[in-house]
Amino acid sequence: MCGIVGYVGSNNCYPMLIKGLHRLEYRGYDSAGVAIIDKNNRINAYKSKGKVETLEHNCEDKNVEGTIGIAHTRWATHGEPSDVNAHPHLSEDGTIALVHNGTIENYSLLKEALIEQGCSFKSSTDTEVLVQLIQYIRDTNGCTLLAAVQEAMNQVVGAYAIAVIDNQISDTMIVARKSSPLVIGIADDATYIASDASPIVEYTNRVVYLNDDEIGIITRGEPLKVINVDNTPSPIDIQTLKLSVSQLEKGGYDHFMLKEIFEQPMTIGDSIRGRVVDGQVTLSGVQENKEAFRKARRIIIIGCGTSWHAGLIGRHLIQDMARIPVQVEYASEFRYSNPIINSDDIVIAVSQSGETADTLAAIQIAREKGAFVYGVCNVIGSSIARETHSGTYIHVGPEIGVASTKAFTGQVTVLTMLALAIGQLKQTVDNETIGAICEGIKQLPAFIGETLKLNDKIEKLSRIFTYAHNFLYLGRGYNYPSALEGALKLKEISYIHAEGYPAAEMKHGPIALIDRELPTVVIAPKDNLHEKIISNIQQVKARGGSVIAVVNKGDETIAALADHTIEVPSVPECLSPVIVSIPLQLLAYHIAIKKGCDVDMPRNLAKSVTVE
Ligand code: F6R
Repeated sequence: MCGIVGYVGSNNCYPMLIKGLHRLEYRGYDSAGVAIIDKNNRINAYKSKGKVETLEHNCEDKNVEGTIGIAHTRWATHGEPSDVNAHPHLSEDGTIALVHNGTIENYSLLKEALIEQGCSFKSSTDTEVLVQLIQYIRDTNGCTLLAAVQEAMNQVVGAYAIAVIDNQISDTMIVARKSSPLVIGIADDATYIASDASPIVEYTNRVVYLNDDEIGIITRGEPLKVINVDNTPSPIDIQTLKLSVSQLEKGGYDHFMLKEIFEQPMTIGDSIRGRVVDGQVTLSGVQENKEAFRKARRIIIIGCGTSWHAGLIGRHLIQDMARIPVQVEYASEFRYSNPIINSDDIVIAVSQSGETADTLAAIQIAREKGAFVYGVCNVIGSSIARETHSGTYIHVGPEIGVASTKAFTGQVTVLTMLALAIGQLKQTVDNETIGAICEGIKQLPAFIGETLKLNDKIEKLSRIFTYAHNFLYLGRGYNYPSALEGALKLKEISYIHAEGYPAAEMKHGPIALIDRELPTVVIAPKDNLHEKIISNIQQVKARGGSVIAVVNKGDETIAALADHTIEVPSVPECLSPVIVSIPLQLLAYHIAIKKGCDVDMPRNLAKSVTVE
């Protein structure tokens, strides 16, 4: 949540900062701002409620010249979205500007103490407390900005990635991180900082990921220095980015979400490349940790939102193939549940961004209790990827649309391969079954491509349902989580209330909701629960409800019962969640578009949830 970007170099930084903010807008878009030191050593700061384009518009007639600057796009935590609460925040005397991603937990205590010392505050944010504290320490101790930032870091409790500039040292930026991500890009003529690599990639592919409690000192014309809060120098590990600018553009599609839905034949191809060969699965994370997987008595999958849904499918997969008991937990609940974790447990953390605060905190607890922690992440070099003992990247490329699509199918595909790899290792699944599923995995890109041809049909179908205020999604077995995910996609981008339910549970309550106004999406591929789900459809129809059924091609029984059918190719049962997700994603997308919603940036949401 919140994106920060900064530049120290010899060119005017404003265009880079604005472009960077657009790249980071997926992290939050309540307000945006920039602060730039001009040639007279004045800090010019401009802030606007709303998206980055509003800021750009407001800056058209302003002095935005300068070669060192910071910028921010916000997802509000403390204080409503407004001009005054937007970042950058300035210290009281206007000499220091700061941008912040994270939350300062003890901000009210610090604020009270600063007010007692005579400080006055303009905003209701936690961040303003931090910048005022830094100024207070600098001025009362008569110390450098760096020393003041170090001391402030000792006093604040919470999560932060910050970038700070001071007009008294106008060639230097100080950055620091604790539990919120920060990347530094190193080019010959400039240094860049950002919450992720997307604003940096077109200028350099040489990056340093700051670790917790580290401070970067970026001075024009000097090499980057990194130290920790205790002033000890930290080694600088320069890594090479494998990201390209074209991956960050819409590529002719109207929205990132649609582009990402249509990319799935390719992204699933990338997820499985080199991992499914000769009827066997090879995952280096499993190969290198055979003992941990062999001796595991239990697997706990943690994640949030869509990643939690992928985890529910992972449970079925791992229990079916590896015969290890699996529990799936919301990371946010798990971390506060005084969890029982043993050293022969494996904790699998599923996260697209690799930055979700609750998932990261749950990983830390699991590590402290001696579990082996395995990551299933998309963003390479992300905090979760680095905090886990080992893992498997899903390799679906940058996901920019706030609603997760290709990352979900990538997560499910990787969890399928993981379940097979553990099953192979433990010999709990026979070679014939492994071979058949491997064959199915290899065919997924082609089957997804075929399923995407339904786009026009689903677009037409969506016109009928823009009136709806509620939707019910039903599924069973492997596709109960698909129902949850379909409902989440619809509600988050179209603002239509939608609930996912295990189909057989409907009769225990939700059946009371069924009437002509409530569309029910039933996920009903031909699997071992097919007959059962036909009964569930009949129960909906008997009460006057309308049914949209996602079925396998040629399913005449359900076609005769349902109001609308969407026919998808048949695949082995355990792979069906990947295929049925495609029409559910398209349905949500088209309904939201018909309702005039901003599908890439739905209200109140942010892609990367780096606060609790
Ligand atoms: C929904 C969605 C969210 C994320 C959740 C976890 O479309 O994208 O529910 O799945 O915020 O994020 P990650 O996977 O980055 O940990």
